Amino acid sequence: MVGVLWLAPPIHTFAADVEAGRGKSETCVACHGLGGNATLPGVPSLAAQPAMHTFLQLVQFREKRRRDAQMSPFAEKLTDRDMQDIGAYFAAQTAAPSRFVADAAKAAAGRKVLEAHHCGSCHMPDLSGQNQIPRLAAQNVEYVVKQLRGLRDGSRRDIDGTMASAAQALSDQDIENLAHYLATLK
Ligand code: HEC
Ligand code: HEC
Repeated sequence: MVGVLWLAPPIHTFAADVEAGRGKSETCVACHGLGGNATLPGVPSLAAQPAMHTFLQLVQFREKRRRDAQMSPFAEKLTDRDMQDIGAYFAAQTAAPSRFVADAAKAAAGRKVLEAHHCGSCHMPDLSGQNQIPRLAAQNVEYVVKQLRGLRDGSRRDIDGTMASAAQALSDQDIENLAHYLATLK
């Protein structure tokens, strides 16, 4: 039976290289922070993101399915191999807690929205993400607000439509509350 495993097609044809990814990320830290812990408003933290999520988002930017004036130019020249290595590097970094001072009432309301919509069923109960699904815990507040509005309104296209449909029911107030709650998580 063990032999059956060898017959299964490999998901990756090569192993991603964390050390190579560190070198290939040198231009990224100017915006995304040391080790991928961003402090600039509107810039996502990449530390401890699932490697597959980072890889797939970079592909989206390179293929112009996702666009951002600041970010897009940095994805243009990356090869698939670069994106795999970069994804592996950031996945191996530790996420720093958010420095944002959340409003307690908004955070409490955001927690209820999250529970009502079962966001943790995909993003994991501790919101650390898995596979193509991003970590949300401690993510930048302005970034989360912009993404959820964009996913809801269609200005950010997602890979398979699952997140766009999950965002449909959210009001602007829900989105603000959610972002405050996420900032309180580690
Ligand atoms: C000039 C600033 C800047 C630089 C340099 C930069 N980025 Fe970005 N990056 C951004 C911004 C801003 C966003 C958010 C775009 C948006 O709002 O959709 C972003 C988004 C991303 C995302 C999406 C994260 C997610 O959770 O969906 C990834 C992955 C990413 N960048 C990786 C990189 C990598 C790798 C590099 C270096 C090769 C890099 N970035 C360089 C500004 C930058
Ligand atoms: C069916 C699974 C699923 C559910 C349920 C779900 N998500 Fe997502 N979410 C995803 C996937 C997949 C992505 C990546 C989107 C893409 O393809 O660009 C994502 C992306 C996101 C992003 C963008 C983060 C980033 O780093 O760019 C935010 C914010 C988010 N989800 C919040 C939520 C919230 C809040 C809920 C509950 C209201 C929720 N999600 C429910 C699957 C899901």
